[in-house]
Amino acid sequence: MGSQRCTVVVGCQWGDEGKGKVVDVLAESVDIVARYQGGANAGHTVHVGDEEFVLHQIPAGILHPQRRCLLGNGVVLDLEYFFEEYDALVRRGVDLEGRIGVSQRAHLLLPYHRLLDRVSEEDRAGGPIGTTGRGIGPAYEDKVGRRGIRVADLADRRRTSELLDGALERVDRQLRDGHLREPLERVRVRDQVLALRERILPLAVDTGLEIVEALACGRRVLLEGAQGTALDLDHGTYPFVTSSNTTAAAAATGVGIGPTFVDAVVGVVKAYTTRVGHGPLPTEFEAELGDRVRELGSEYGATTGRPRRCGWFDAVVARYAARVNGLTGLAVTKLDVLDTLPEIRIATAYRTGEERCTEFPANTTSLADVEPVYETLPGWLTPLGGARQLEELPPAARRYLARIEEATSAPIRMISVGTRREQVIFTKLQ
Ligand code: GDP
Ligand code: IMO
Ligand code: MG
Repeated sequence: MGSQRCTVVVGCQWGDEGKGKVVDVLAESVDIVARYQGGANAGHTVHVGDEEFVLHQIPAGILHPQRRCLLGNGVVLDLEYFFEEYDALVRRGVDLEGRIGVSQRAHLLLPYHRLLDRVSEEDRAGGPIGTTGRGIGPAYEDKVGRRGIRVADLADRRRTSELLDGALERVDRQLRDGHLREPLERVRVRDQVLALRERILPLAVDTGLEIVEALACGRRVLLEGAQGTALDLDHGTYPFVTSSNTTAAAAATGVGIGPTFVDAVVGVVKAYTTRVGHGPLPTEFEAELGDRVRELGSEYGATTGRPRRCGWFDAVVARYAARVNGLTGLAVTKLDVLDTLPEIRIATAYRTGEERCTEFPANTTSLADVEPVYETLPGWLTPLGGARQLEELPPAARRYLARIEEATSAPIRMISVGTRREQVIFTKLQ
């Protein structure tokens, strides 16, 4: 954005803020887009003309010709789903030749991680997290446990084979202990990895090196986050989080560059709040309004199809996200979804009994019991989808945006008023 050369795009709520759309729009003026964490749990939707694309692992810059798209070392790479996504894009006419690079240091997510994810959800004391079932937790557990298999390990066929045999043996035991009702298809997994190995090796690169060299030549880079701040392993609503650091500081580590290479951090916030899966959501709507906004905003998971829980904009979360991500700017999405609401609320604090707090609490159990303190603003009751300039927005919409800006102390750089690429307003500041 603007004169910034290396920009992080990070979700500031519970995921699905519209990062895909924002990255696609910003990718117009960059050379490289790199994902820095997560895996196929992400679902980033991009609309180009009448076509809709949902990207799970391939960065959302891919729909601009010639942009180079990288998957950093912080990503867990699901080989099977990656090539499914790759082939589906090619079938839809997207030229990927020479455009995708995968970190040699990225850990592989293998089919058994998905089985382990299911077992761990079924057996979890205290009930399931409501994961996407994509094997994310178990893959990161293997990484942190120092028993993962990385892209670089695939270079040697014999070593790949040995590592796989060891992993399959261990997982088979683990799954039987976990009373899995479905056998691990060891031979199928082994054959599949050995076959896909041939396809992934030519894409393997040192993402940090490639990015630093590109920056040195004056090229521009976007680092694309997945999930959102409240799902961050350290800073989110633990344990109802994902298994990676989603926040901006992880972007540098996740692609292999130092933090001083990053020039700007754009936080993406939806004009209201959504969450998929379990865990506290302080501003969650009552059933009727929840159903209405879900329909207005088509709030169904891009990865799992699950209905998303919806609620009012939570300025406590947004302010927290501004701090933990060090935001230099905001992109506000889905403002148009609120077009028909006569009144719009923003939670500015939480109340527990007599106590009022304005900081996001670390204790997730207490978060489930807080009562949001709301400020009510008038709605604009005008369709915003056609607006392309800030001045074209009705005063009530501008007032709402000003409150969001004030609450986060981060300047709004971009406002999205529809799913299409052109449905965007850039503010003068950008
Ligand atoms: P991501 O995971 O953060 O990339 O977000 P998702 O793609 O999962 O969910 C965002 C949804 O909102 C997608 O269906 C987008 O097409 C849609 N979307 C993005 N921006 C806007 C907007 O400004 N208005 C409307 N109505 N929809 C939007
Ligand atoms: P994008 O990138 C919304 C949620 C799951 C679950 C929790 C843990 O599209 O914003 P996991 O499968 O990661 O172990 O699940 O995190 N979750 C997401 N919610 N958007 C996402 O990605 C998500 N990725 C994971 O619903 O509550
Ligand atoms: Mg999504």
